[in-house]
Amino acid sequence: MARITAGVASSHIPALGASIDNGKTAEPYWASCFAGFDWTRAWEAAQKPDVVILVFNDHASAFDMNIIPTFAIGCGERYASADEGWGPRPVPDVIGDPDLAWHIAQSCILDEFDMTIVNTMDVDHGLTVPLSLMFGQPEAWPCKVVPLAVNVVTYPPPTGNRCYALGEAIARAVASYPEDLNVQIWGTGGMSHQLQGPRAGLINAEWDQRFLDDLTADPQRLRHIPHIEYLRETGSEGIELVMWLIMRGALGAGVKELHRHYHVPASNTAVGHIVLEPTD
Ligand code: DHB
Ligand code: FE
Repeated sequence: MARITAGVASSHIPALGASIDNGKTAEPYWASCFAGFDWTRAWEAAQKPDVVILVFNDHASAFDMNIIPTFAIGCGERYASADEGWGPRPVPDVIGDPDLAWHIAQSCILDEFDMTIVNTMDVDHGLTVPLSLMFGQPEAWPCKVVPLAVNVVTYPPPTGNRCYALGEAIARAVASYPEDLNVQIWGTGGMSHQLQGPRAGLINAEWDQRFLDDLTADPQRLRHIPHIEYLRETGSEGIELVMWLIMRGALGAGVKELHRHYHVPASNTAVGHIVLEPTD
């Protein structure tokens, strides 16, 4: 039987990818930011997940105003790197797990979550930066990935509550998959960030830290945070945090926090990272 053994969350700031790709991680601006991921890279090397269900958002690399799926699950064989800004990152293709992905799609759709099935898609920094942070710069990524793209770019994004419930449905899907697989689920994006306008650079460290605390202490509070609170307190792109709630919902009632990192600034945003283990 497949098992969800851990949840990981991380910001996916494109400048982190550019820093890695251009050999700048040891520079004074970046060193302490990247140091917070050393623990996780060593832990991942020991955990050896077979598959990561990677919850991310596309930034107009695969989807644009022509098509805006709320929840899109990647059921393809592989995904190439794409990006705006610095351009496609020089990282290996991401290898999918079509059998598991189709199983999750079927299970979630019959569980009344109307997933969009995507067989062809390029993946941008939303997905590749977390892979680099957790796995470094290997010739090939060490596990398969089931990409789950969430619309947090164009209003209306899904509610945190809906995301949490989707995580619970994904956990049921994984638990009913017969193959013996070590599966992790990752949530990406966040934390405080506002990239444009008069409030650009807004950082609310107190709010961010409470969100990190309550992933363990009070996840029921998090699932009911309204969109307007994310926007007001963490900036317009802070809404990416609803994706962390898919990860959290998939872990069950109790979790243990194994590792946390919070750093400001990278680009003009806060970096948040946490590793959780289910306890039930
Ligand atoms: C930036 C872009 C993002 O998608 C994000 O999540 C954080 C930061 C940026 O351009 O700095
Ligand atoms: Fe983003």
